[in-house]
Amino acid sequence: MKILITPSILSADFGRLQDEVASVEKHADWLQLDVMDGHFVPNLSFGAPVAKWIKTALPLDVHLMVTNPADRIAEFQAIGAKHITFHAEAVPMTKARLDLINAIRKTGATAGIALNPDTPLSSIDDVVGDIDMVLLMSVHPGFGGQTFISAVLKKIEMLRAAHPRLMIQIDGGVDPLSAAKARKAGADNLVAGSAIFSATDRAQAIALLRG
Ligand code: DX5
Repeated sequence: MKILITPSILSADFGRLQDEVASVEKHADWLQLDVMDGHFVPNLSFGAPVAKWIKTALPLDVHLMVTNPADRIAEFQAIGAKHITFHAEAVPMTKARLDLINAIRKTGATAGIALNPDTPLSSIDDVVGDIDMVLLMSVHPGFGGQTFISAVLKKIEMLRAAHPRLMIQIDGGVDPLSAAKARKAGADNLVAGSAIFSATDRAQAIALLRG
């Protein structure tokens, strides 16, 4: 199973955002944009007007921590997003989820669905067979630098056992120790913010997460 490393820019120095992105570009696989609306999560981060200035060869992975994800698809399509993930908690109805997955795929991006730590895997039984990626949050979303919630490892194991070929992304408190546990449990796409952007040697920080 190839392990993808996805730096999340929430922990980067926004005063030097292009330089920060350049510092991980040769070593990472994707780049995650943490889009927060201050409503679905208590923090307010940025939208496409900021993200459009990022110049990178890395595929943009847009993590929509927003109450109305369908409203954001067009603007992220316009900046070339390759992966767009919405939260199951923000879109509870199956038809709305399927419509959103189709809308995302029509842009040429892959569609992901995210689960907060307390949301059970069963909550996505209706779409797990139709989705390109499941993002399992290992912190309560909103802020970088939090501690990895180890209880999520069981969710990774159960999801991997049920869906051997599904991409499983883990996000929140991922450092070399928790990354090793998450890989062992079956995650194949690791999102990390502070473990990478607080490091001086970004190449080494990413290599440590790959294991
Ligand atoms: C948290 C964000 C995460 C966060 C990860 O709500 O979704 O992507 O940036 O940051 P670390 O790796 O520092 O926990």
